[in-house]
Amino acid sequence: MSVPVAPGRLPFLGHSLPMLRKRFAFTGNLRDQGDLVEVHLGPMRAYFVASPALTHQVLVTDAPKFHKGRMYDKFRPFVGNGLAVSSGAFHLRQRRMVQPAFHRDRIAGYANTMLRATLDLLDGWRPGDIRQLEADMQGLAVTIVGEALFSAEIGRKAIDESRRSVFVIIRNGILRALSPGFVEKLPIPANREFDEAIARMRAIVTEVIESRRDDDTDHGDLLSTLLRAKDSDTGEPMTGEQVFDEVITLLTAGIETTALALAWIFHEIAANPEVERRVVAEVDEVLAGRAVTIDDVPRLTYLGQVAQEVLRKYPLWLVMRRTAEEVVLGGAVLPAGTEVILSPHTMHHDPENFPDPERFDPDRWTPERAKRLPKGAFVPFGGGIHQCIGNHFALTEIAVVVATVCARYRLVPDRPVRTKFTNAAYPNDLMMKVVPR
Ligand code: HEM
Repeated sequence: MSVPVAPGRLPFLGHSLPMLRKRFAFTGNLRDQGDLVEVHLGPMRAYFVASPALTHQVLVTDAPKFHKGRMYDKFRPFVGNGLAVSSGAFHLRQRRMVQPAFHRDRIAGYANTMLRATLDLLDGWRPGDIRQLEADMQGLAVTIVGEALFSAEIGRKAIDESRRSVFVIIRNGILRALSPGFVEKLPIPANREFDEAIARMRAIVTEVIESRRDDDTDHGDLLSTLLRAKDSDTGEPMTGEQVFDEVITLLTAGIETTALALAWIFHEIAANPEVERRVVAEVDEVLAGRAVTIDDVPRLTYLGQVAQEVLRKYPLWLVMRRTAEEVVLGGAVLPAGTEVILSPHTMHHDPENFPDPERFDPDRWTPERAKRLPKGAFVPFGGGIHQCIGNHFALTEIAVVVATVCARYRLVPDRPVRTKFTNAAYPNDLMMKVVPR
């Protein structure tokens, strides 16, 4: 493995769109400078990891030597010490308590919610409508995670508030995370919107938790699992604050990511007629006209490959870590407290592992080809102890939504899609025409 620690500079994070677009290209160029590249985020020094082997080392083999980094600190005022920002022993304890909420049996229940929410959305579509698909997918993703979290009636207000606030929080939060500290104190509309959205979400989620606190019934939702979970060492349940932090974390982590994958999947299906033909043929064969169930998901194998390819092509741009102790990485000695940047986007666009990386090709994911990939090359859900807890939830959601839509409609692009960038590439104005099949 080559070990140059090359100096690089991430352009100052001023957020103009051309600048952000350049940064995506820039991290791709960093890959050519070595496996580990020293970069500057404004005044801050960090190390950019540019090889699958080092990505795997940070995420998996040396995971206990790292904590979550600077990007996550910025979310702390909102998500407290929820799974996405916590580290070490506390994270492990919480992870064990939250994990049962994502057990296979639970996901089977959420699959019914996913189907119902998709059918509700389709009930509002008329043949010939031009839909703004990213907005539809965001609304759907909020409804699905919201209903999986709070099935009971009291949850409705929280779901409505999430629809209004979650995207404001995520986008402004990511921009803050990538900006110098003074930016978040500026009296600009983005900061005001962020603070107001957080205050509203805190109020409504607290209300829901309070209303359920003394209710020991298992409502089959995520919140029931969190409220009933007991620490395996102490036998203690989570405090109200811990439940709150995990609820907000799931809302934040589980909505935008899945909405994005769903929007891009419809874009790519429409842009690739052969992919569309194969998806539709498989859906028709497996479902034979009935509604999709959880048992169909593993049978929709080609659709599974299409989902993998979307997650490859449109992943998160950055994931960050901070060394908790001295770490030797790619031959460099990083003292405790060093910020380390991983990039699923850079890994997934490496032509060595993904030839012609901009091409959408679900056949990269046949089992024979997929198993030839080196560890660390494909990390849409991260890896190791912090691997996305919602990965099966998300893959089930993608399968249920896409199969249900494709069984009924074709979505035809109404105009070329534009792209905008924060911590991922987002479709902007993905206008698609609804055509009955
Ligand atoms: C396509 C959809 C999704 C993608 C691409 C995605 C991606 C990721 C990635 C890359 C991480 C690791 C971050 C890191 O290592 O710092 C992560 C963690 C996490 N995700 Fe997801 N995610 C998705 C859907 C979901 C869903 C549906 C949920 C919950 C309902 C969820 C909840 C979480 C949580 C709680 C964590 C933190 C896990 C931990 O550190 O223990 N995600 N996700």
